[in-house]
Amino acid sequence: MTEQDGSQDRHVSAERRLGTVGIAHRPVGRREATAANLAWWDADADEYQATHGQFLGDADFVWCPEGLREDDAALLGDVRGLRVVEIGCGQAACSRWLARSGAHPVAVDLSWGMLAHAREGNARTGPVVPLVQATAEELPLATGSMDAACSAFGAIPFVASVEAVFHELHRVLRPGARWVFSVTHPMRWIFPDDPGPNGLTATQPYFDRTPYTEVDAEGRATYVEYHRTVGDYVRALTKTGFLLEDLVEPEWPEGHTRVWGQWSPLRGKLFPGTAIFSTRRDDR
Ligand SMILES: C[S@@+](CC[C@H](N)C(=O)[O-])C[C@H]1O[C@@H](n2cnc3c(N)ncnc32)[C@H](O)[C@@H]1O
Repeated sequence: MTEQDGSQDRHVSAERRLGTVGIAHRPVGRREATAANLAWWDADADEYQATHGQFLGDADFVWCPEGLREDDAALLGDVRGLRVVEIGCGQAACSRWLARSGAHPVAVDLSWGMLAHAREGNARTGPVVPLVQATAEELPLATGSMDAACSAFGAIPFVASVEAVFHELHRVLRPGARWVFSVTHPMRWIFPDDPGPNGLTATQPYFDRTPYTEVDAEGRATYVEYHRTVGDYVRALTKTGFLLEDLVEPEWPEGHTRVWGQWSPLRGKLFPGTAIFSTRRDDR
């Protein structure tokens, strides 16, 4: 869950630290994307936690800026006794919720800066969940060792190949295991990332998969975020052996006034901001 131009929290300190000077419209491969996002999430970790930590809680599972909680949605089902890997865990509040709910979570993130907050959260809150620094494309987990996987806006928008991540999850999950993840709803791509009225006018093509890329003065990527259409996600899941069981589009709740970057009550009342793909390893 990040935001770019026009949003209220602008990540000024991360951009300054990384020397971001503008936006490029070009393809970005895996190596450059991983390097950029590792540096970016390290640089933005403190601000992310300061801005969103309270909303996300210490041991709570919030799927999206709309505030949908796993406590209410139960998309992972009964997690008691399950070994669950959380991808792009950030401060790992979801994994601590899983631990409190009787699961055995492993929390994975690319960024040491984000994992530092996860470590603080462990110390502050009680359930100490195992933290692993790794990219979602290469999980240091044994084949078939996990009973479920989840991600709340972690990793998926930032990897060059979503198929590589799905392949890896297929490997570490046992047959029939659930894989549930939330991302920015693909239809948001056509609008400027602006929570206000400017964010209501379509300005870019839904079918342009060129990633959103911020660059430094040398043209090197400092932040990369990928767009996939709904069809792209469905095809990638099917091709890598997952069965799509539901696509949840959380509605903006009455009385919810919190603005998170481009997510706002104004836009949330008109169109979806989050897509949650609820899938299973397909072993029919
Ligand atoms: C928007 S934050 C979400 C964090 C947390 N899940 C939450 O709900 O607040 C995205 C997270 O994905 C992580 N991330 C980015 N690229 C990744 C990758 N290739 N592999 C694993 N994690 C990644 C970032 O470091 C960051 O912690």
